[in-house]
Amino acid sequence: MKKLSANQIRKMWLDFFKSKNHYFLEPVSLVPVDDPSLLWINSGVATLKPYFDGRLNPPSPRLTNSQKSIRTNDIENVGVTARHQTMFEMLGNFSIGDYFKKEAIEFSWELLTSKEWFDIDKEKLYITVFEDDNDAYEIWTKTIGIASNHIFKGTRDTNFWDVGQGPCGPNTEIFFDRGEVWDPKKIGPRLLEDDIENDRYIEIWNIVFSQFNNDGNNNYSELPRKNIDTGAGFERLVSIFQDTPTNFETDLFLPTIKAVEKLCDNSFKYSIENYFKENKEQTKINTAFKVIADHIRAVVFAISDGVFPGNKDRGYIIRRLIRRSSVYGRKLGINNAFLFKLVDIVIETMKDFYPYIVEKASTIREVVEIEENRFLQTLSKGYEHLESIINKEKIVSGKNALLLFESFGFPIELTVEIANDSNIKVEVEDFYNLFEQAKEVARNARKDDKAWNKQSAVLTSLKVESEFIGYEVEECNAKINYMFADDKEIMSATDEIVFLTLDKTPFYAEKGGQAADNGVLVDQNGNNHNVIDVQTGPNKQHIHKVKLNGTLNVGDVVEAKINLDKRFYTMKNHSGTHILQSAIREILDKSALQSGSYNDENGLRLDISYNRLPSQEEIDQMHSVIERVIKEAIPREVIYCTLDEALNVHNALAIFTDKYGELVRAIKFGEFSCELCGGTHVLNTKDIEDLLITNVESKGSGVYRYHAVTSHKEVAAVLNEQFAKQKAEIRPTIDKFNEFKKYVENKEIEKEINEINNLSINKKNLAIIKIKVFNLKNKFKLYQKSVEDILIAKKLDSYKNVEAKLVDGINYIDLELDDLEMKEMKALSDELQNKYENLILKLINKTNKVYIVSVGQKLSDSYSAIDIFKSTKEFEVKGGGNKNFAQGKIV
Ligand code: ALA
Repeated sequence: MKKLSANQIRKMWLDFFKSKNHYFLEPVSLVPVDDPSLLWINSGVATLKPYFDGRLNPPSPRLTNSQKSIRTNDIENVGVTARHQTMFEMLGNFSIGDYFKKEAIEFSWELLTSKEWFDIDKEKLYITVFEDDNDAYEIWTKTIGIASNHIFKGTRDTNFWDVGQGPCGPNTEIFFDRGEVWDPKKIGPRLLEDDIENDRYIEIWNIVFSQFNNDGNNNYSELPRKNIDTGAGFERLVSIFQDTPTNFETDLFLPTIKAVEKLCDNSFKYSIENYFKENKEQTKINTAFKVIADHIRAVVFAISDGVFPGNKDRGYIIRRLIRRSSVYGRKLGINNAFLFKLVDIVIETMKDFYPYIVEKASTIREVVEIEENRFLQTLSKGYEHLESIINKEKIVSGKNALLLFESFGFPIELTVEIANDSNIKVEVEDFYNLFEQAKEVARNARKDDKAWNKQSAVLTSLKVESEFIGYEVEECNAKINYMFADDKEIMSATDEIVFLTLDKTPFYAEKGGQAADNGVLVDQNGNNHNVIDVQTGPNKQHIHKVKLNGTLNVGDVVEAKINLDKRFYTMKNHSGTHILQSAIREILDKSALQSGSYNDENGLRLDISYNRLPSQEEIDQMHSVIERVIKEAIPREVIYCTLDEALNVHNALAIFTDKYGELVRAIKFGEFSCELCGGTHVLNTKDIEDLLITNVESKGSGVYRYHAVTSHKEVAAVLNEQFAKQKAEIRPTIDKFNEFKKYVENKEIEKEINEINNLSINKKNLAIIKIKVFNLKNKFKLYQKSVEDILIAKKLDSYKNVEAKLVDGINYIDLELDDLEMKEMKALSDELQNKYENLILKLINKTNKVYIVSVGQKLSDSYSAIDIFKSTKEFEVKGGGNKNFAQGKIV
């Protein structure tokens, strides 16, 4: 067996497929683009969905990649089993409507067994195929010559790739036999045949014959274009070539494990031998090393793709990984934040294939250190909480274990360990049930999203020319060269909604976060047909969705006119997005990077990956930078060049996940901004006129959404509206103040009100008015309370001199009044009880229907307020109380 390093293995895979005319796709971000059905990129094919379902045509029908992926369904197993990882790489080769079963199988066999390539002993390879897939069985046995004792038929469970809606099909899997050392019971191939979990036969390659479409309800139809999707777990391959017990002793993880040994002063060591001669304590220690090495790697890559620790979705996963590895660090006797010290070693190990992580090192270190320190504080709170549960309840319920897990990041094993030390039981089974339920809820929340769009036969085969000329012109004469409806080609239609292409078109199709143009197609009779949407087809044609007003035929020449107003404002907003991004990076930090955007005629939305919200001061600074850039009147340049030139000569910003063709288009505003972009833009920064950030909100996972508008008109409209809203909000407070001020003056509030009224409407004052309104409301609340206290005291004053009637040493007061409320009557009762000894007091307010009885302290042995209250004959009462005081309503 060849001894190969991880980098050599990856390179050999990619070189092999390149030599077979496969186009190499760079790895893309772990964060899926335009795919709400996925939290993370979880396989090589996940990045290629638009090619597989036919929305887009690939740069070549043969593709190969090595794609970083994350799967998080069983984080708890990572470190415990030999091959689970959070982040892994998947090597793949793909055919989009090109080769199918025979070539796919032949390629795999050649790469694995040829002397020139991996040179694996054929005898060590085993195959499984889907039981009904006779084609694949024949190819393996007849064409390749696999002996019948090396190939097994599997079921729908083991050999059919189906992830719900979208392409699916039977698969064939290739296994590597690592020999009897890894099969202590010497069971042999039956392990494979019966699908028994084992360390001997390692699955190295899954080849999916993607030939059906699942409509989401398990109705299957043949795909018009058949594809090949394959995936080989990179770390497994490395483990096989390096002959290591698990994936972790390979050159991908061992450097990190060694670094952790150093961090714990070698008081704990990772033991490879433990796999064969197990010592339970050492297994726990090994797990700790493995968890840390796995998690920090995933964390480094996720942060470099713009995912920051947070409370939701991806951000929460990163938080959990940091917490879990920090806890395992403590098991190795490391008590301070240490994970950030491993960032460089991960980068060193991975940088050959992922050079971009090098420049992110300092951001990653900083984020990891802050997060771990924050966690260590929570952790001590968690310990306290767990201790109080242990002391009080003498058992840790599943619910409490889940709470510890979710709120304090306590892995269940840690809870069990601590509880066991005090001989306390943890309801682990309950914990897992609740945990599964919580996961199920999360899963269902995602189910509704469309995972794959169905291939459209019409669109994938559409070959007509359709040139976009909308960068230069806003209207032109154009010929309808294709029309379809309900996925069928049509030649003519009347008064319905159809899709059509034009030989040339000024209409921009929705792309790169810019909304589509709309407008009209004017026919020879002068009828206007409304273009309501424009999208790009798989072969880049602009597909116009048109509501017909009369008849249009293929071949008709129409006047295509875009809605100028919409385009005009959309352009300002799109250029505004670029300028805003540069301003954000200038004020916050270069690590702040766009993770999505949207511009239309109404405004712009820019999602920025960063670790916090901007302060008001920073927003003001961003506004100033943008004002400066608009004033400088920087002309726009459109540059067509190679990606390399754009990045290195023009310093263009490219979002890492974008796939770019050979020649790229960059939009440049002097030295201030340069971005790869296919959108339409203003000619000069001065045409943006003005920009106002209207709101910044957190989207979770370290993504902050900036909302803004541009142009004098829109900025003025938003400012007027926002000022009016603030003023309307404070109006009731001002009205109340005007009513109250005749009793008690308050110069400060008066001043604040004047200031709010006199604030001129501009960007800077928008934040100020919001703060002032907020402060005024709070100040007024305090003032209102003090005025009301004074008013009550005044009212009570008039009753202070009420005379009691003394009969047999007892003072009686029966008072009917109508200007006091319950609260005030109580205060009066207290005052009179203080004034007279031995007082029995009745206060009645017939208007408000309130009745109070109070009995002096010294009388309460012989008289009871509640009895007197209840025995009232004059009217019926409802209420309660005690010997000294009773209150209620007259009914
Ligand atoms: N998409 C297939 C997998 O992930 C190849 O296993």
